[in-house]
Amino acid sequence: MVLVLRFSHVFFGALWVGMMAFQTFFLMPALAEAGPDSGKLMAALMRRRIPVIMPIVALITLVSGFWLFQRLSGGAAAGLMRTAMGLAFGSGGLAALLAFLLGIVVMRPAMLRSIAVAASLATASPEERATLAAELQRLRARGAMTGWVVMILLLYALGAMSVARYL
Ligand code: HEM
Repeated sequence: MVLVLRFSHVFFGALWVGMMAFQTFFLMPALAEAGPDSGKLMAALMRRRIPVIMPIVALITLVSGFWLFQRLSGGAAAGLMRTAMGLAFGSGGLAALLAFLLGIVVMRPAMLRSIAVAASLATASPEERATLAAELQRLRARGAMTGWVVMILLLYALGAMSVARYL
């Protein structure tokens, strides 16, 4: 059982941080540079169900992580948190949980809305275009800004997890 837990945790944790790093450091800046052409790429990403896959990958990491933490503490989480190792696993876990919540509550809706606005931009009248373009820019800025916060939290979690055992 512990093998399955550890495998799921490290495997999906790596995928979560890796996908998010690609999105934050490469995809978002590239989409911003592409301007109006970015709509097609966003639609193609949607067809590959990225807004569904990412939360599932994150959830598997979170559930297995809290389960492993519970197992490691033998039911005494407060005691484990008083050790340097426990503090690193615990604070890293908390950072990952915060990253997940921010992603679901702020980033995901901004991304979905910006895809809808980008799609309607193609058929909008010239008067509507300026308003829609401004909204698109605002949504993208919010998504990118939150993306950076999520990324920093995830990098903290990854860093803390990778050294926790040796503290
Ligand atoms: C970004 C998300 C996460 C990533 C990338 C990640 C990564 C890792 C890695 C690479 C390890 C192996 C460390 C080692 O064996 O020395 C690990 C172990 C561990 N992680 Fe995470 N983790 C994440 C989220 C979480 C969360 C949310 C928790 C919940 C508290 C958590 C709790 C643990 C625990 C307790 C272990 C030790 C497991 C054991 O006893 O072998 N992790 N994690």
